[in-house]
Amino acid sequence: MKNIVKMSDLTNEEVYDLIKRALELKRGKKVVPREDLYIANLFFENSTRTKHSFEMAEYKHRLNVINFDAATSSVNKGETLYDTCKTLEMIGCNMLVIRHSQDEYYKELGKLNIPILNGGDGSGEHPSQCLLDLMTMYEKFGTFENLNIIIAGDIKNSRVARSNYNMLTRLGATVRFICPEIFKDDSLGEVVDFDEVISEVDVCMLLRVQHERHNSEMNLTKESYHKNFGLTKERYEKLKDEAIIMHPAPVNRDMEIDSELVEVSKSVIFEQMKNGMFIRQAMIEKIIKDNNL
Ligand code: CP
Repeated sequence: MKNIVKMSDLTNEEVYDLIKRALELKRGKKVVPREDLYIANLFFENSTRTKHSFEMAEYKHRLNVINFDAATSSVNKGETLYDTCKTLEMIGCNMLVIRHSQDEYYKELGKLNIPILNGGDGSGEHPSQCLLDLMTMYEKFGTFENLNIIIAGDIKNSRVARSNYNMLTRLGATVRFICPEIFKDDSLGEVVDFDEVISEVDVCMLLRVQHERHNSEMNLTKESYHKNFGLTKERYEKLKDEAIIMHPAPVNRDMEIDSELVEVSKSVIFEQMKNGMFIRQAMIEKIIKDNNL
């Protein structure tokens, strides 16, 4: 079974192919409709962008979308994730999109005979977000070689940081981090001072402070976080002319980024969301092709 559950499932060539196909789709290239296929989106954690852009991508391919609702499903009677997914396989689903709070939940699903697209696993990985981030950078710079990238935020709890760090370094970019001590992840790259590097970077990526994964003792105030680790107006003024500002969203306005900077011309935050639909279309096409569906 060929799944896309982590970025290491993809070769560099496959990543470039997905980006190039998503860019073609964005330019209006037609898709082959597949009214014979059924897909279910299983979101056990909240989502707006990932869930609905996968849904939109599925409708663009004329797939039949099974409306799975975690809150009213038999998971609430104690059914396991595997039994839930196997049930959907047995009633005729051809593939699944899953977001779950458990890291590497997909390791429990090895006996399924239908492919999985990972919509995010705990603090593990978020491959569709990583691919849409790569697409957005590629669209702007045409390469990843020697790009100077900083990722500022809640690195330890971020599946976006992990996926992006691993993939971008593989593709030749330099990725460094900005975060408070409590958000450090020693398994990832170097942590630097925002004010020392801001004027050199090509990509300033901000990550959401994930309040739902923290305990109240962390005592993070919006103001102190913004001053020390956020994109303030003062830092924004120091960015290179061609630099871009990214954020996977949802955004805590005035925490990770000054609210007035969210839609400035250097910001590609909403373009990332637009690109997300096209990259998910390309992922669905790949899963259909690689699994001979
Ligand atoms: N960026 C992202 O994953 O957003 P959602 O949680 O809204 O899907």
